[in-house]
Amino acid sequence: MKSKDIRKEFLNFFQQRNHLIVDSAPIVLKDDPTLMFNNSGMAQFKEYFLGNATPKSNRIADTQKCLRVSGKHNDLDDVGKDTYHHTMFEMLGNWSFGDYFKKEAIAWAWELLTGTYGIGKDQIYVTVFEGDEKDGTQLDQEALDLWKEHIAEDRILLGNKKDNFWEMGDVGPCGPCSEIHVDIRPEEERLAVDGKSLVNQDHPQVIEIWNLVFMQYQRRADGSLEPLPAKHIDTGMGFERLAMVLQGKTSNYDTDVFRPLIKKLEKISGITYGDNEITDIAIRVVVDHLRAVSFAIADGQLPSNTGAGYVIRRILRRAISYGYRFLNLKEPFIYLLFPILKDEMGDFFPELIKQESIVTGVIREEESSFLRTIEHGLNRLNQIIDQYQDTKVVPGHVVFELYDTYGFPADLSRIVVEDHNFTIDEDGFEVEMSKQKARSKKATALETDDWVIVRENANEEFVGYDILSTEVQITRYRKVKNKKGEFYQLVLDKTPFYAESGGQIGDTGLLISANEQIEVLNTKKENNLIIHFVEQLPSNIEATFQAEVDSITRNETQKNHSATHLLHEALRTVLGTHVEQKGSYVGPDYLRFDFSHFGKMTTEEIAEVEKIVNDRIVASIPLDEKRNIPFDEAVSQGAMALFGEKYGDYVRLIKFGSSVELCGGTHVKNTSDIRLFKITSESSTAAGIRRIEAITSNAAIDVLKEAEKNYQSVLDTLKTKSDAKKAVQQLLDENAQLKKQVEKFVAQQAKAEKENWKQQVKNINGIQFLAIKTDLNTQSAKQNAIDLTNELDNAFVVVATKDAVKPSITISIAKNLVEEKQLNAGQIVREIAKNIQGSGGGQAFLATAGGKDVTGIDKALAQAETFVQ
Ligand code: ALA
Repeated sequence: MKSKDIRKEFLNFFQQRNHLIVDSAPIVLKDDPTLMFNNSGMAQFKEYFLGNATPKSNRIADTQKCLRVSGKHNDLDDVGKDTYHHTMFEMLGNWSFGDYFKKEAIAWAWELLTGTYGIGKDQIYVTVFEGDEKDGTQLDQEALDLWKEHIAEDRILLGNKKDNFWEMGDVGPCGPCSEIHVDIRPEEERLAVDGKSLVNQDHPQVIEIWNLVFMQYQRRADGSLEPLPAKHIDTGMGFERLAMVLQGKTSNYDTDVFRPLIKKLEKISGITYGDNEITDIAIRVVVDHLRAVSFAIADGQLPSNTGAGYVIRRILRRAISYGYRFLNLKEPFIYLLFPILKDEMGDFFPELIKQESIVTGVIREEESSFLRTIEHGLNRLNQIIDQYQDTKVVPGHVVFELYDTYGFPADLSRIVVEDHNFTIDEDGFEVEMSKQKARSKKATALETDDWVIVRENANEEFVGYDILSTEVQITRYRKVKNKKGEFYQLVLDKTPFYAESGGQIGDTGLLISANEQIEVLNTKKENNLIIHFVEQLPSNIEATFQAEVDSITRNETQKNHSATHLLHEALRTVLGTHVEQKGSYVGPDYLRFDFSHFGKMTTEEIAEVEKIVNDRIVASIPLDEKRNIPFDEAVSQGAMALFGEKYGDYVRLIKFGSSVELCGGTHVKNTSDIRLFKITSESSTAAGIRRIEAITSNAAIDVLKEAEKNYQSVLDTLKTKSDAKKAVQQLLDENAQLKKQVEKFVAQQAKAEKENWKQQVKNINGIQFLAIKTDLNTQSAKQNAIDLTNELDNAFVVVATKDAVKPSITISIAKNLVEEKQLNAGQIVREIAKNIQGSGGGQAFLATAGGKDVTGIDKALAQAETFVQ
């Protein structure tokens, strides 16, 4: 069965059992401080389990793009070495939200695997949770009994908390689980050794393919388990492993999910997969990582130096360095694999087709720059090797610095130094690495206490689109600690405070009660909750407060937000519809807008975009806002959904005339409120991504006023009324003319001086010696010294310029003297320049030194004479 059909069969099977089929959530998560990437199918449904939100159907199935490269579930180091782990993989899953439970989940899993997919019943083992004393959980007797209805009892194994109690992270929904393992060894091997003993033993052919989680608890920050309001089913089946089983392969990489990519890589590298374990690992690493990086970029996560972007950059660099080291690929090559991935998966994941140019552009650019890093690192390493010839050990801190400052991987350092019969001080390196880990942990550590519930409230309504002040009550709070100190987070029954999202910053303001006033420092989203950051808790947590948003900041911010929409539309008009938003910042001070476009914008294009936006401002277009309209209707009205954004079924539409956007942010009532729009910079942030920064309203007006003021002062200085350009050009022409004249005069003067100098030449031991001070500049003095040396026989000329700030000394010696008397102008000038605190050098017959202390000139000239004597 082709992998495409395997996916289809899965979804059909559950659709027939009344499951709603939904799209995969984006691979990169926003608004969830506990998780960077979707690491399992259930992550997008977390709030349903916790009872914080209601699903549109209580039965759902999908295939989810997952990435397990950070946090609790991290497989990165295993990838490539074995044949069944991946960074990015698809997880097929079915969910019940308070609907069916273990009985149906188990029966359907059995039916799908052994019926639809036809896996042999004698190849399957299942595991059941045995209970855990510390957690106070029991053996899952119910699951055990249910499995016995389908599978022979001796194929059911008990498992401990590590294998059979699934948790999303350190906190969050969790529960006992049953794993389904498949034994794909050849029959004679299966008869010889019972597969039971190989379950969960990292055997590449006795592997887990499906996990059925019976969600019934929430793990709290203090480690305790709290029952969830209802019981749910969360299942996850590894798509690539299932393909391996159903396609009769023994490695995920031999399935049609990976084969086309491997074939292309074989062509690029000239290396055949299957020939050699070392190159096989490298090939697996590259094709695996390509998928992870491509899906992440397509979902809007560009490689960067922080957070999720840094994780993506590291994955890509791991692939590049495996290619460099083991496949001998020293030019960008990974981006060449992308078209194959797009062809294979683009029909199910259309973001790969839409984002092709961005993904390939970004990967290629990252590859080039990292390959340059590798080259620099190699050069630096060669110098280091010279430096430590005596010990033949490279200190750990040196290797660490190469890695930390230049991004040069330590394992590459290792290989290079080994080629020179050197070693690395591994202990020293480890010490530096752990110091760095401790540093970054300290920088990001966030300790979060459990919520303290003040009053029950299922729905925290945001009222801040319409009002900036209202009466509120606190429903829950918790203490949070980070490197900056301790603070509190509050949730309110309803709130006018806008939580940071869609680029727009979170609101600040006050909570005022009869006897106190609490400052709200920021507002952020955590999944569905709006969280208000405060430094101190109110003395009476149950009081009623007047919530007051800082309206000045909010108003300035929303001018910039509405301007961002107008800018987006103007860019698409001027540059083309390939322009898509890739990120934004909207604050009270300015706006930043990142978008896809190849090449720098011209001055004319920038001016045109500015003009279109300002025309819209002048046109006084009223805001047309539609809340809670069906997603499809919004799209049919011209709104553009962005890849990597997760939209609900009902969305908010913001229109200003022909500008139509899906947006949760706050906006001006009329474009005329923006007053003025001014682009302050246009630059590049990554391959194919441009960045515009702009200001509006007072900030823009101030900038124009300042520019006008500057211009007026230029006019005043030039003593002209209007045409500064003409006046400046006149000055430049005059200046050039004067410069020419001055040069001529200086040359004449120098020549006259030289004739005078001749009178002062002394004959010392047959050498025509001259030591002289002059007001000429260094250049003319030097030329005179050379000319004089040519005019006289056996000349030794020393000329010092008397410039108070930058005195200089030039020595010119006839070539025959240099040879006969072993004189060296370079050495002599270095020696005598010490008198003027100078340094310099040159050749044996001509040398110059610059100095700082003009008072030492006489001494220097006197000292010069000693060399002739
Ligand atoms: N959430 C479960 C897992 O990821 C199904 O294994």
